[in-house]
Amino acid sequence: MKQQLIAGNWKMNGSLAANEALVHGIAQGLQAALSGKQAHVAVCAPAAYLSQVQQLTHSSGIDLGAQDLSAHEQGAYTGEISAAMLKDFAVRYAIVGHSERRHYHAESDELVATKAQRALSAGITPIVCVGETLAEREAGKTEEVVKRQLAAVIHANGHCISEIVVAYEPVWAIGTGKTATPQQAQAVHAVLRAQLQAATPHADRVQILYGGSMNATNAAQLLSQPDIDGGLIGGAALKPADFLTIIAAAAR
Ligand code: 13P
Repeated sequence: MKQQLIAGNWKMNGSLAANEALVHGIAQGLQAALSGKQAHVAVCAPAAYLSQVQQLTHSSGIDLGAQDLSAHEQGAYTGEISAAMLKDFAVRYAIVGHSERRHYHAESDELVATKAQRALSAGITPIVCVGETLAEREAGKTEEVVKRQLAAVIHANGHCISEIVVAYEPVWAIGTGKTATPQQAQAVHAVLRAQLQAATPHADRVQILYGGSMNATNAAQLLSQPDIDGGLIGGAALKPADFLTIIAAAAR
């Protein structure tokens, strides 16, 4: 059975002291949460703290992730962080195309696809986020939107597409406490799986995560859906006990 991936997206939260307490809390409870079973676990820290969190997570069973990366390889791009720089800190995952970046930084589908490409060519697994807004859902456009977003990444990445992780994050469920029902989430995951199947014979090994108000209470039901292979967790990833409960629900 495919292992699930539980990734925390800390967003713009944390401090040296808070990160230390958070990672220690997760690391201390990890073996008990897994209770002899397995799941991939990662934390996506703010770029400023990657060095610190690399040290904190070393040999802990927790992988390190970044929240974004540059679409450029190197050069005169003030403020940007390249895939190669992330690799220097043993970053295994990089979130690309989070809805907050699409919205606040006007990131296009094509830019997101290029970022995924940069990550893959540096040996970093991109966690490609897709998801519809409330207006798009209400207009019956959910499928069209998520397929368009994923299509750009498939187009740019060809046969490497089986190396990505996808995260379905309905925008209306992020930070709102309004989770998609397991049925709503599964329906979109099945659409994404079918789209991947048309692009690669290895679509079944692509982990498709759900994100959007996943928490200690609703995780088990969401994670039991056939096409939900893990979670991308915001708020609940900042609380060790809640994050560990979600990990326990994902362990197989
Ligand atoms: P919340 O879990 O806080 O809703 O955030 C989800 C998210 O955006 C993860 O990337």
